[in-house]
Amino acid sequence: MSDSVRILMCAPHHYDVDYVINPWMEGNIHRSSRENAQAQWNKLYQVLKTYATIDLVEPQPGWPDMVFTANAGLVLGDTVVLSRFFHPERQGEEPYFQQWFEEQGYTVHKLPKSLPFEGAGDALLDRAGRWLWAGYGFRSELDSHPYLAKWLDVEVLSLRLVDRRFYHLDTCFCPLTDGYLLYYPPAFDTYSNRLIELRVPAEKRIPLDEVDAVNFSCNAVNIDSLRNGKAERVIVMNKASDGLKQILGERGFTVVETPLTEFLKAGGAAKCLTLRMTEPRQESPQASRIQSRVIHLEGHLLDSGLVNQVLDTIVAGGGSFQVLNFNLGEQRLDTSVAEVKVSAPDATVMADIMGQLIDLGAISVSEKVSEASLEEVTQPGVAPDDFYVTTIYPTEVLVEGQWVKVQGQRMDGAIAVTRNLEGSVALCKLLRDLQVGEAVVIGSEGIRTKRSATTLKKSTTEEFSFMGAGVSSERRVELVVEQIAWDLRRIRDQGGKVVVSAGPVVIHTGGSEHLNRLIREGYVHALLGGNAIAVHDIEQSLMGTSLGVDMKRGLSVQGGHRHHLKAINTIRRCGSIANAVEQGVLCSGVMYECVKHNVPFSLAGSIRDDGPLPDTKMDLIEAQAEYARLIEGADLILMLSSMLHSIGVGNMTPAGVKMVCVDINPAVVTKLSDRGSIESIGVVTDVGLFLSLLVQQLNKLTGEYAQV
Ligand code: ARG
Repeated sequence: MSDSVRILMCAPHHYDVDYVINPWMEGNIHRSSRENAQAQWNKLYQVLKTYATIDLVEPQPGWPDMVFTANAGLVLGDTVVLSRFFHPERQGEEPYFQQWFEEQGYTVHKLPKSLPFEGAGDALLDRAGRWLWAGYGFRSELDSHPYLAKWLDVEVLSLRLVDRRFYHLDTCFCPLTDGYLLYYPPAFDTYSNRLIELRVPAEKRIPLDEVDAVNFSCNAVNIDSLRNGKAERVIVMNKASDGLKQILGERGFTVVETPLTEFLKAGGAAKCLTLRMTEPRQESPQASRIQSRVIHLEGHLLDSGLVNQVLDTIVAGGGSFQVLNFNLGEQRLDTSVAEVKVSAPDATVMADIMGQLIDLGAISVSEKVSEASLEEVTQPGVAPDDFYVTTIYPTEVLVEGQWVKVQGQRMDGAIAVTRNLEGSVALCKLLRDLQVGEAVVIGSEGIRTKRSATTLKKSTTEEFSFMGAGVSSERRVELVVEQIAWDLRRIRDQGGKVVVSAGPVVIHTGGSEHLNRLIREGYVHALLGGNAIAVHDIEQSLMGTSLGVDMKRGLSVQGGHRHHLKAINTIRRCGSIANAVEQGVLCSGVMYECVKHNVPFSLAGSIRDDGPLPDTKMDLIEAQAEYARLIEGADLILMLSSMLHSIGVGNMTPAGVKMVCVDINPAVVTKLSDRGSIESIGVVTDVGLFLSLLVQQLNKLTGEYAQV
């Protein structure tokens, strides 16, 4: 109660806005009045004095922000963790605060040099002392939190700040008596909001709107006092809206407003101007939940932008990093090596981040090299909860001290490990194929993927470099087509394999004659699609229409809607597409060319009940297996206007296979370019136009060859 609360303040004799280290200071340099500041500070001092004992630290010339004593350090009992300021502008305050604490007999802990932590500005005790909320993201480093847990013997809950305006935890978060919490949720990332919601029940949370938040209503001093024998819960702050006062009033709090506008110009208010020296604490403390790992990266880290990607991934995932070492290599072609320490507020966040880092090619080298963790499948076709989801990149797992290469690499699978006499075998399996008793890799330990090598090899060859952006605009289509034609030509001449997946739009847009040519001239080695492309193609061959529209005149034909069914019926009568070709019923079109030139095709399913063609596989699992078989060994996959088949095929294909995705819908193209710009080229255009340009280009190449 009142006599037990002690607060440290520092008079604003030298206060001013001298520099900009937070957004509130922008435009306010030397715009604050020392006189007004002194008056506002005095008023705050008087108000607080009625509820608490105030200690004062001597202000120092040249250190204008020293008034904000919340940033002196964090005090718990007779221990203090001294601040290490992020900005040099404030680092000079450290020795003065240190001296003051030492003179008062506190045990002073100092963090390692380059590890910023800004005291009670970024660390707020639960008012019952159950745990410490600690902020990071702008001024304090996540890695400082384990020190707090250790030195103060308290459980630390780390919260990530994401709005520059609320750069210190105490600008947007204020724990109150009785487990209440005043806070501004948008200042935190999703994970932190979830953590807050887990610890503070809904009826205790008092979320602020932006108007109160920017008035620094969270930057409040909450004191329980006993005045004239009456218990009072006071909250001292710069300003509160009527609505907020009412909400707080209903919960038994009295708001005492005292204007601090001069200090707002430096980005601080009531709470920043105070440091609570008497904090409650509860026994049975727990350790910090923060986790750290060290990852190892190797490859052309700078050229490929991989380092940036890795560091961004860590930060975006809610973690923080420290680059332990970075060896650049000496020559242009040398690879570089980096070791990065990754920290995350708890195990779940760490697992998420590590999963992504492994996909980027990082290897976890935490203290000891850990084996991959395995867990048994207990239900057929269902993996253990935490199973590692595979990517398209070559992967290895560490089993019994050996890195074992995963066979049958594909995306969206699980890794099953079996042991035989020669050692362990790791197999990439689809969920549905998992069997009871099979051991599946879980978590992220003991897994590594390789991607940098292929990425580099291709990016140094000139031909695709100008398509780096992945998705091309209309203007670039012709250039892209030129490159693809060149590639098709090369693959064909070297006996390689090109797979085409296509949707019915190819036929509607008049692309059929061009695709026919590609097949005839040996550029296509397998065709994948659904029931529809075949039906449309056959309808066009038999009746000159596609879904009843005359392909030459672009007009609906009388009774044309029946053409579709007639086409299906004709083929059904023949028994198969191949039979129809053989019997002379089907004499042109894409399917005809496939049969004639022994190009295998797979037609995967139909949701329409008007067919299907006898060749269409209605068992989708069987169809997927056939797709996978036809994709095997492909050098290039040309995906023509079918979202479903393009994405399906993309997922089945391991890294290293070039993909060209053509669709009028940029979303489809972008989806595929997730694989990285080197491996997937997106062309947003009409597929008929694309095919016609491609054939023209191939003709040109042939012409050039002929002249040589
Ligand atoms: N100008 C000071 C700074 O940017 C303001 C500090 C406010 N203190 C606080 N605990 N939020 O560091």
